[in-house]
Amino acid sequence: MARLKGTFMKNLEKLYKLVEAQSKAYDKHEKVKDGQTWKYHLLPVIKNSLMLAKRYGGDVEVVEVAALFHDYANLVDFEKYSETHHIASGELAEPILLAHGYGPAFIDKVKKCIYSHRASVVKQKFSVEEVCLADGDAITHINNAFEIIMWMGYRGDSIEDANAFVKRKIQKSYAKLSEESKEYMKDKYEAILKIFY
Ligand SMILES: [Fe+2]
Ligand SMILES: [Fe+2]
Repeated sequence: MARLKGTFMKNLEKLYKLVEAQSKAYDKHEKVKDGQTWKYHLLPVIKNSLMLAKRYGGDVEVVEVAALFHDYANLVDFEKYSETHHIASGELAEPILLAHGYGPAFIDKVKKCIYSHRASVVKQKFSVEEVCLADGDAITHINNAFEIIMWMGYRGDSIEDANAFVKRKIQKSYAKLSEESKEYMKDKYEAILKIFY
């Protein structure tokens, strides 16, 4: 068991490096700040999903790997996969996970989490791990209001457009949360909304 645990840690480290490199390739291609996607989306989604897994009693290993790969297809080819990235990210992750020693049952759970993280498309969630990832992603969007505004500024969007877009994104993200996570985020959500007009 100890050996298995050690192997898991080692492989997980390799997967972190692989996804980080892919996210930097994406930043370069999309002409956004180098390292932005990794630092302000992927790492916070992993952190928030894991925090919820501990809170709600989910399998932390499944949640961590699912969070790491949840937007992977977007990082590979945004134009091609953006509308189907909840399906494609799991499909692309599967051979990578197999090559890193993960078994089919584990991969199946990871793929289910990735599939249902896109709450605007997939409404029903079956496992606590699926809730952890979808809520972890939505909580990150609420927490990252400031980074999204900055990013829109770099792009040259107007203050009015940034206000409307980010306000709407925060409202939509909150609406997607499970009842437990809504309760957890309620005070912060109401406070953040006050800065928008
Ligand atoms: Fe996504
Ligand atoms: Fe995401």
